[in-house]
Parts: sequence; structure tokens; C-alpha cells
Amino acid sequence: MHGNGRKKLEIYKMRKKILITGGAGFIGSHVVRLFVNKYPEYDIVNLDYLTYAGNLGNIKDVVEAPNYSFEKLDIADASAVNALFKEQHFDGIIHLAAESHVDRSIENPMSFVLTNVIGTVNLLNAAREQWKGKMDGKRFYHISTDEVYGSLGKEGFFLETTAYDPNSPYSASKASSDHFVRSYGETYDLPYVLTNCSNNYGPNQFPEKLIPLFINNIRNNKSLPVYGDGMYTRDWLYVLDHALAIDLVYHSGKNTETYNIGGFNEWTNIDLIRLLCGIMDKKLGRAEGTSVKLITYVKDRPGHDRRYAIDASKINEELGWKPTVTFQEGLAATVQWYLENEEWLNSVTSGDYQNYYSSMYSKRS
Ligand SMILES: NC(=O)c1ccc[n+]([C@@H]2O[C@H](COP(=O)([O-])OP(=O)(O)OC[C@H]3O[C@@H](n4cnc5c(N)ncnc54)[C@H](O)[C@@H]3O)[C@@H](O)[C@H]2O)c1
Repeated sequence: MHGNGRKKLEIYKMRKKILITGGAGFIGSHVVRLFVNKYPEYDIVNLDYLTYAGNLGNIKDVVEAPNYSFEKLDIADASAVNALFKEQHFDGIIHLAAESHVDRSIENPMSFVLTNVIGTVNLLNAAREQWKGKMDGKRFYHISTDEVYGSLGKEGFFLETTAYDPNSPYSASKASSDHFVRSYGETYDLPYVLTNCSNNYGPNQFPEKLIPLFINNIRNNKSLPVYGDGMYTRDWLYVLDHALAIDLVYHSGKNTETYNIGGFNEWTNIDLIRLLCGIMDKKLGRAEGTSVKLITYVKDRPGHDRRYAIDASKINEELGWKPTVTFQEGLAATVQWYLENEEWLNSVTSGDYQNYYSSMYSKRS
């Protein structure tokens, strides 16, 4: 075989098919975009059930790419998952699909069990079946959260070795899925890697989470509901930095290892909200101090963890990852994106969102 033929064969050999679940959601959409653009030699299959949190508009710039395809499917439906794995052979799975909002888990824990626990086990079973006897070079990458570790006091950080101590139905369901992933590694030699990340923020986040919710409320002159005393502390990471970490761990992380990912960037909710109000006042041409007046303290969320903080030195020392975007840069870019994408914001906050919003916050005010 000469020149072109050999080249084609080599490219064919290099081709890999990667299943990304939850690719129409917030973080997943950034991961899909990164992989589709950066790895033309990979076929990226985006599996998403398009729940309220999933929106193909998040990835409209990549849906026409030749190495992208989409499967609408509920991961809690074992037969649908198995049918997909019968049809397509995957070299790797990057699993992000989840029910992801703590407040919703308090209202309806069972949907978290179905998607986060059963959905994950369905994918593990399908991967195990597909890769039986040929696990070499395969990888099941499970994306998880720092919330599985529970709550910290004023001092200390979550390490990869910190014992799990989940307090909400959301974090309990993610903890359970993490345990299942590890158990499939131990029991069936399934090649896996797992990361636990701190709070993400950035473009395309559904406006039920703190930062986009407040950007939207400030824009509409609506009150800013702050839970409890506002002194809850979170470690914030720009979503693109999470996507870059996922790329690195997928390609260079060690099998059966866990890596914590964090922003080295702790903020109390109230300080963060004040900062956001200042940025929004400037962007909207409002007098300084206008938006801060929208802050309203509301009844606390039950089981509210006081502080999360990640020690991300393992991923830094072993794989060389660190955040590239400062909080000031990331927050300014995020505000700008929401202001420039009013149509997106209006479309996702129409219909059911209004009912959801009043049911979540009216009883707490
Ligand atoms: N957002 C954060 O701050 C954060 C931090 C750490 C870890 N994580 C984890 O990262 C992952 C993604 O989080 P996100 O914030 O992008 O979530 P998201 O809610 O924005 O997106 C979740 C996606 O999963 C899809 N989905 C939900 N149920 C499904 C089902 N049954 N079958 C198939 N698809 C389904 C939704 O349609 C949506 O597109 C989750 O596993 C979450 O636990 C999130």
C-alpha cells in the first residue's frame, strides 16, 4: 500500500469513538465543543435526554461538524442504553449527564436516584458488556462533585482521601454513583477515572444556579434571594477550566485514580453577590449601589453545607493542571455572555421555569 492509502489506514486506526453524556447541559456543552474542535480524529457522540437543563442551542456551533452526532436517550432506561451500545462501539465514555440542582433534589429525590444512580449503573453495565475481554485502552470517566465530601468548618480542604459525607439527596446520589464506578473497577476491572469538582460558573449555565439566576434577576430588577445569613462559602471555577481539566484527565489521568478539581477561589455567597451587583451596575449603566438593594434574605435551604473548598494539588502536581482564568475575568465574561444572549435566557426562562421559580422561592421568603 502506498502514500495516501497508508495515510488513510493510519487515520482510520487512530479514530476513536467517544460517548459524552449530558453534552447539551452546562458543563457537557463546553466539553463537547472542546472535543469536537480539538480532536477531529475522534467521533463524538453526545447522549442527552434534553431535560429542562439540556438545550441543543448550547452547542449549535458544533452540531454540523462531521465528527459530531447526537442521541436523545434517558440513561435511566437500561434497554435504550443497551440498544445504543449494541449499535455503536465506544472507546471511551465521559459521563456528565445528571440531575444537578440541590434544591430540586430536596423537592424530588427519586429523579436523582433514577438518573444519577441507576443511569450511571446502566452505563457501567453497558460498558462492561461491550469491553469484556478487551478493556485495554478503554476508559470510563465519571464526572462528580465536591459536594460528596459534605461540609467543612472554617479551616481545611477536601482531599481525594476525604471520607464521603453527603448531606443532600443530590450529593447522596452523586456519592452513590461514585461508589458504583469504583466498585466496577475493583470487581470487574473496568478502567475508570473519576474527578470531583467545585462549583462551576460561566456561559450556558441554567439560571437556577446562583450566578446566572442573579444575573437574570438583576437584569429584570427582581429581588435576589440569599439563603440564611449569606455566609455559605463555595470555591468557584470557570467552566472552560473544568473542560480543560476533563480533557487532561481523560487523556493523561491514571486508571482507578480520583482527582479533585477546584478554583483555589473561595467566596462567601454574600460577597460574591455584592461583587456581581457591582459588575452588573457598571455593565447596565446603573448608579453604583443600585443592584445591591435587590438583596433579600430568605429562609435557609435544609441541610445546607456551610463551606466547600477543594485542595487541587494532586491534579496540579501529577498532570500540571491549574485554572487559567481569574475570577474577575471569568465573571466579567460570564455577565457579558448573558447580556449578549438575552434570547437564550428568555427562551430557557419561559414556560415551566416561572412555575419552578415561584415554587422554590415563594415559600422561603
Ligand atoms: N455545575 C457544577 O457546578 C458542577 C460541579 C461539579 C460537578 N458537576 C457535575 O457535572 C455534571 C454536569 O453538570 P452540569 O452543571 O453541566 O449539569 P446540567 O444540569 O447543566 O446538565 C445536565 C445534562 O444532563 C442531561 N440529563 C439529565 N438527566 C438525564 C437522563 N436521565 N438521561 C440523559 N441525559 C440526562 C440534561 O438534559 C442536561 O443536558 C453533573 O454530573 C454534575 O454532577 C457539576
